[in-house]
Parts: sequence; structure tokens; C-alpha cells
Amino acid sequence: MDREVFQEQFGLLGTSPEIKHVIDKIMQVSKTDITVLLQGESGVGKDVTARAIHAMSERKRNNLVIVNCGAIPEGIIESELFGHEKGAFTGANESREGYFEKANGGTIFLDEIGDTPKNVQVKLLRVLENGEFFKVGSSKVQTTDVRVIAATNRDLWEMVKDGSFREDLYYRLDTVQMHLPSLRERQEDIVPIFRKFVQEFSAKYDSVFKGFSDEARELLISYRWPGNIRELKNVAEQLVVLEKSQFIDVERLKKYLKGRQHEGSADNLPMLAESTESNSKTQNDFDRRDRELVFRALVELRNDIGDLKEMIANLVYSQFSQKDIKALPPAVRDEVSREMRDMNIDLSEHSTLGVQSMPGDETQQEVPESEGSALLNFFGGDDIPSIEATEQFLIKQALEKYDGNRRKASETLGISERTLYRKLDQYGLA
Ligand SMILES: Nc1ncnc2c1ncn2[C@@H]1O[C@H](COP(=O)(O)OP(=O)(O)O)[C@@H](O)[C@H]1O
Ligand SMILES: [Mg+2]
Repeated sequence: MDREVFQEQFGLLGTSPEIKHVIDKIMQVSKTDITVLLQGESGVGKDVTARAIHAMSERKRNNLVIVNCGAIPEGIIESELFGHEKGAFTGANESREGYFEKANGGTIFLDEIGDTPKNVQVKLLRVLENGEFFKVGSSKVQTTDVRVIAATNRDLWEMVKDGSFREDLYYRLDTVQMHLPSLRERQEDIVPIFRKFVQEFSAKYDSVFKGFSDEARELLISYRWPGNIRELKNVAEQLVVLEKSQFIDVERLKKYLKGRQHEGSADNLPMLAESTESNSKTQNDFDRRDRELVFRALVELRNDIGDLKEMIANLVYSQFSQKDIKALPPAVRDEVSREMRDMNIDLSEHSTLGVQSMPGDETQQEVPESEGSALLNFFGGDDIPSIEATEQFLIKQALEKYDGNRRKASETLGISERTLYRKLDQYGLA
């Protein structure tokens, strides 16, 4: 199969050298059983790639089992992956097969592999090396014949260095590594792919696409696309459906680039055109309403995530002083500075935040910058707390302040109640 046919068949668009390289590599490895590690940011096409590799392989008639290791709670991941025997733990009323057994003869796609707990990593290593595993609660070794594709958006080698990922598992996964380029790394693909998406959605929603302005084109290229192709596709769909855009100008486009500016909630979205025949509740009306609800829900969700990110960034970054920033490695420093700029955080304004003067202490003593943080003091040391610890701290503070009233706590935190519930659950604070 040649590259263009492959791209058409699996919907992996682009003509940049970077994507061509990836596609050639996919076509090379798919006929083999070799383990593949896909690395790349969210939305660059890791799922699509895994599906394509399976579909092109000799194993295509058997299962492709997709496991999001980051989404399975730590307590049950082992039994999800390897299955369990009846009575292995409270509630295990039946024996159950795990994903590795389901994938026998086929492919298993371990997404977000960097999120696997260490005690499970050692079991993954064993099954990857010789196909052997134990069901939870069983001492009988079982075997499975699977092809493994793993993916991560984290830097696994960094995780090996900081001790959170096993080195032996890293090398086992590293046989063929594929870096899926972000859109920023292949800017020449942005406009053609966007154009294709808009055309497809226009056809689907019965609209006619008439192109975009030069300014809009420039913005498409210069925007950072933190959500990569997933975001590009969403923006194209929203423009077609919500804006009824036929010609895309820069002002309309701007509204939907959420990583760029943080305004606009679903409430500000224009209504989809009301039906003109007012009371005729045709099937079409309902479809349209359903679609609108789904869109609003999606935009809300994205705003929630944006809010949360901003809240944490504001808190953490406001505890940094110029000196702290200067001490960071250059690459991180640039990233942090950019984030801070994006979020309009002015260091000079915030660098003394958290410095508390003692009662009666009138002399303006200079407090060493490293001691100037209420948050760090709370966590009892010089170490910068993790974002998760910080989040838990904030959530507890807010709940305490409002006597456990979740609505008020979530309002104060600037997140939705739904997000708060999810967090409480995640951290076992419920
Ligand atoms: N090269 C590409 N061309 C066209 N669409 C793509 C491409 N890569 C990804 N997509 C689309 O972008 C979205 C996100 O892709 P996905 O594989 O889920 O990304 P990831 O798993 O890396 O987060 C999907 O809708 C997918 O169809
Ligand atoms: Mg994915």
C-alpha cells in the first residue's frame, strides 16, 4: 500500500516531512509483532495510529483491546489488566478475564502507560517479556499472545530518572519509538488539514464553505494548538455549526481558540438558528437541539479544564520569585515564563505574595525569597509541593471555609461542581 492510500484509509492527514516519516514507520512496523511506543502530546493521533497499526497487521481479525492506564483507579488496575479469580477480593463474586486475556491473538494498546503504578509495572514487564501473567488471587501462571502498543504524553525517560517508571520496562517498550509531531512542529499541515475538516463538516451540516481571510489563516498558523489535531477539528466543527460560518474571519476564529485567551463560556455561545415554523416539533428540530446541547456541554467541559489549569497555575506561579524562575533549567524557564505571560501573571506584583509580616514587626525586614511562601510553609518544608497536593490543599481549605458546602466551595475555586465531585472522588476526600 502506498502512503497516500494509507493516509486516506486511516484518516491520518498531512504532507509535511514529519508526518510522512511517521506514516512510513507505521507501515514498516505494522506487519511485525514488534512492540511500539508512541510518544506525543494529547490530540496528535496516538489512538488513530494504534488502530492503524492493528488494522494493517496479521492480527487484525482478532481483538484490539484499548486500555487507558491513566483512567483506571490504582486499586483495580491489576485485576482489570490480568483478570481475577472468584473470591480474590471482596466483591469478586465471579472470576473474570482481564484485558491481556481478551487480547490473546490480537493487539493490546496501553494508553497513558506512564500512569501505571509501579507494582503493576513489574507485572507488565513479565507479560511483555514472555507472555506470562497471573490472575489476581491465582497462583497458576497463564500465557497470552499479544502484540503491545503503548502510548504516553509524558517523558518516560524523565520518569525513569526520577524513579517513577521502571528502567527495565522502559527499555522493553523502547524497541520502536515513534514521536508523533505536534501541530506546532508541522505548521505547514495546519491550513490544509483545517480546510479539509471545514469542508467535511460543511458537507455534513449542509453548509457551503467559502474560504477564510488572510488574517484568519495567519492566526491558524501562529496559534499554539495545545490540543493539536483534536482541537483543530473541534474548532472547525464549531465554526461550521455554531457560527454557521461559510467565510471564516479572524474575529470569529479567535472566539474558539481557548488556549489563546480565556474568555467566553458556553453561555455566550450564539443560539443555533431557531426553527422558523415555530411550533412544528419535527425530528429535525430535536436533532438540532440535541446537537446544541452536546456542543454546549463540550464547551463547558473545556472551560472547566481551562479554569482549573489557570487556578493552579496562578497559585503555584504566584509563589515563585524572580530568583526561583531564574534558577530553573532554560527549557522549563521559557515554558513557565510563557505560561505566566499567557495568564497575565506579573512577577513583580506577585513575588512577595505569601510573605507574612509578624505582628508588631514594623521594620521592613527583607525576607529571604525562599522563605516567602505560605503554601510551602503549610507543606512543612522547602520542597515545592506537587500540583496534586496543592489542589487537595485548596479543595480542603475551600470546603472547610464553607462547612462542606460543595456548591460554594466550587464557586470559590472557580470550578464547576461536577469537577469538584470528580476531584473529591479522585483524591478519596469524599
Ligand atoms: N494526522 C491526522 N489527520 C487527521 N485527523 C487526525 C490526525 N491525527 C489525529 N486526528 C484526529 O484528531 C483527533 C485526536 O486523535 P487521537 O488519535 O485521539 O489523539 P491522541 O490519542 O494522541 O490524543 C481524532 O479525532 C483523530 O481522528
Ligand atoms: Mg488518545
